[in-house]
Amino acid sequence: MGSLTPYVPEAGPTLIIGSTGFIGRFVTEASLDSGRPTYILVRCGPTSPAKSAAAKLLQDKGATIIHGTINDREFMERVMRERKIEVVISAVGGESILDQLHLIEAIKNVGTIKRFFPSEFGHDIDRADPVEPGLSMYNGKRKIRRCIEQAEIPYTYICCNSIAAWPYHDNTHPADVLPPLDRFQIYGDGSVKAYFVAGSDIGKFTIATIDDDRTIKKSVHFRPPSNLLNINEMASLWEEKIGRVLPRVTVTEDDLLDRAKEMRIPQSVVAAFTHDIFIKGCQINFCLDKPTDVEVCSLYPKECFRSVNECFDDFIKKIADKNPKAISKPAASKNGIFVPKSDREPLAITA
Ligand SMILES: NC(=O)c1ccc[n+]([C@@H]2O[C@H](COP(=O)([O-])OP(=O)(O)OC[C@H]3O[C@@H](n4cnc5c(N)ncnc54)[C@H](OP(=O)(O)O)[C@@H]3O)[C@@H](O)[C@H]2O)c1
Repeated sequence: MGSLTPYVPEAGPTLIIGSTGFIGRFVTEASLDSGRPTYILVRCGPTSPAKSAAAKLLQDKGATIIHGTINDREFMERVMRERKIEVVISAVGGESILDQLHLIEAIKNVGTIKRFFPSEFGHDIDRADPVEPGLSMYNGKRKIRRCIEQAEIPYTYICCNSIAAWPYHDNTHPADVLPPLDRFQIYGDGSVKAYFVAGSDIGKFTIATIDDDRTIKKSVHFRPPSNLLNINEMASLWEEKIGRVLPRVTVTEDDLLDRAKEMRIPQSVVAAFTHDIFIKGCQINFCLDKPTDVEVCSLYPKECFRSVNECFDDFIKKIADKNPKAISKPAASKNGIFVPKSDREPLAITA
């Protein structure tokens, strides 16, 4: 092994739940790109035009839509049997984590699922220790882990860390929002590092682990060294892209804890995770020393990760399409080293 297999002709049918969601879309696209027969479970009933469009786009790329919910155990069992599903990937959102108890029951009863990926896609929830209300979500995810293990279902837990985007403390889907154009909010002294991984890489490497025996009953940690940055470094990189310096406002540990205590869902959940990442260092304060730990770069050493630099270029393209005046050409000194301009008024842009 060591590199990804772009096409897997013998790949078993894969069912993805939550494919119209933020993480689910990346995983579904990667599954389709890999050539796997891909079924997506889409809930019936009223949905947003964006979600209908997302499902249609995936269907056009080759996914087969199945309408239903994981809360209907008998239906899920029937789907898995009739479609001869071998792999189930769940990317349900934070509010639906415990719905997966029905899914686990169905997977157990069907008995032929070769791999189950529960909705994780973040931190190692057995190690991280966020304050409430983040803790309640982790307790839900922990409960799901224990049920899977007790039922002896072959699983893989994807611990992909943060998405490559500006880590707003009140937004669950920061990659859908542009990095700041008016001011940066820096958490604490801005020196605690985290792994910022492109959504497409979360999808690509999740799919790579499916047919890899080394990842059965393992937590797969995403720790690409090139994507390890602190928030001061993120801010400087973004300033380089937009060609000007922005004010930096400190958000203290207490500020984040206060936001978490407000118990506004989902903002307070994100504030709790932001505190855990950028104050306590929950992504970097442990070694991968359990027999159940594997690291994705060690598994696939020949594969590259998209850099934060490249991901920021994507945001720049979006801004340039919408409002070219919001970015100025970086001024370079004689020796080619970037010198940000500081004389421009910040221009706010909404995504
Ligand atoms: N690492 C990171 O930076 C990061 C960021 C965000 C999320 N995450 C994690 O990624 C996972 C997915 O979160 P997300 O934010 O991507 O979710 P999301 O955008 O809220 O999408 C959730 C998806 O699940 C579907 N769904 C929910 N309950 C369902 C049910 N009972 N039956 C069938 N489908 C159901 C939703 O369908 P409808 O369209 O019908 O609602 C939607 O497609 C979570 O575990 C979350 O903690 C990680």
